[in-house]
Amino acid sequence: MKKTLFVLFALSCACAPKSTNEENELAKISDPEVMQYAVIGKTLYESYCGNCHQNDGRGLGKLIPPLREADYFKKSIHRSVWIMRHGQKGEIIVNGQIYDQPMPANTSLKPLELAQITTYLYNIWGMNEGVITSSEIEKYLREKPENY
Ligand code: HEC
Repeated sequence: MKKTLFVLFALSCACAPKSTNEENELAKISDPEVMQYAVIGKTLYESYCGNCHQNDGRGLGKLIPPLREADYFKKSIHRSVWIMRHGQKGEIIVNGQIYDQPMPANTSLKPLELAQITTYLYNIWGMNEGVITSSEIEKYLREKPENY
C-alpha cells in the first residue's frame, strides 16, 4: 500500500509542468562529434528519463535520485549504462541521501540510443567525458558491473 502511494505521488509529480527557466546545457558543448550524439540524446533523455529524473537532472525529492552533480552517477559510466538497460532496485545512497524506489528496465532502447543518452548526460552539468559510442555501450552491456 505504501509503495502504491509513492508510485502515485511520483506519477503525479511527473505530470506536473516542467520548469521553464532551464538553462540550455547543449549550448556549452564545443566538440562537434559530442554535439551530434548529445542533440538526439537530450530528446531521448527528456522522453525516457526526464519524467522521473527531471529534465534538469535534479531528481525528485527523496523518491528519485539526481543525475546532475551526483557522486553515484559520476562514479561509473558502466554502471549507469547497465541501470538504463536493466533498471535498478534496492537501497542506494546518492550524495548522502538514501533512495529505495524501483527504476524500471528499458528493453526497447537500442545501443545507439543508449550511446546518445549517455553521451548527452556525461558531457553536461560540468562533465566532459567525450563520445560514448554504441560499441562501448555493447561492451558495457555484456558484463554486469561489480558495483551494481
Ligand atoms: C519511473 C521513474 C524512472 C525512470 C523513467 C528512469 N529512472 Fe533512473 N532511477 C529511478 C529510481 C527510483 C532510481 C533509484 C533506484 C534505487 O533506489 O535502487 C533510479 C536510479 C538511476 C540511476 C542510478 C542513481 C544515480 O543517481 O546515478 C541512474 C544512472 C539512472 N537512474 C538513470 C536513468 C536514465 C538515464 C533513465 C532514462 C533512460 C532513467 N534513469 C529512467 C527512476 C527512474
